[in-house]
Amino acid sequence: MTANGYNKEALSQVISDFQARPEMLVQILQALTKRIGWISESAVRQLADELNLSRADVHGVVSFYHDFRTTPAGKHVVRICQAEACQAMGSRELTVHAEKVLGVTMHGTNDDVSLEPTYCLGNCACSPAVMIDEKTYGRVSTQRFDQLVDTLREGG
Ligand code: FES
Repeated sequence: MTANGYNKEALSQVISDFQARPEMLVQILQALTKRIGWISESAVRQLADELNLSRADVHGVVSFYHDFRTTPAGKHVVRICQAEACQAMGSRELTVHAEKVLGVTMHGTNDDVSLEPTYCLGNCACSPAVMIDEKTYGRVSTQRFDQLVDTLREGG
């Protein structure tokens, strides 16, 4: 594994797990994201070469899906639901608050954290919903958000 997480052999293995089928690009990107966490420019080049696609094709798919990162994530990933039910319960205001508290704008990353939108966490009855790393929280007020961030910071 290199410093940026890219590993040519590991990516070749993922590609061959999907029989190097270009129509499996989304699944290959998902597998790569699970393994490495983000899609580097080197990975895009290799995917294009090995799947016989143009780089523009690969970039198009990477940028279409919110779940594919093109930069490494922060230590923690905070996702705030921006879908309708959560918006009706204040997720936009919560996002403004989160940006201030975390010192990062939506889609941004600093050393500690990446702040990302998400579109329905299946927790609409408990809007607004937030996911921190892999855990979902419901009815997150600004006060509750601050508590969650304090816990994160205490945990490192
Ligand atoms: S709309 Fe936010 S969890 Fe469903």
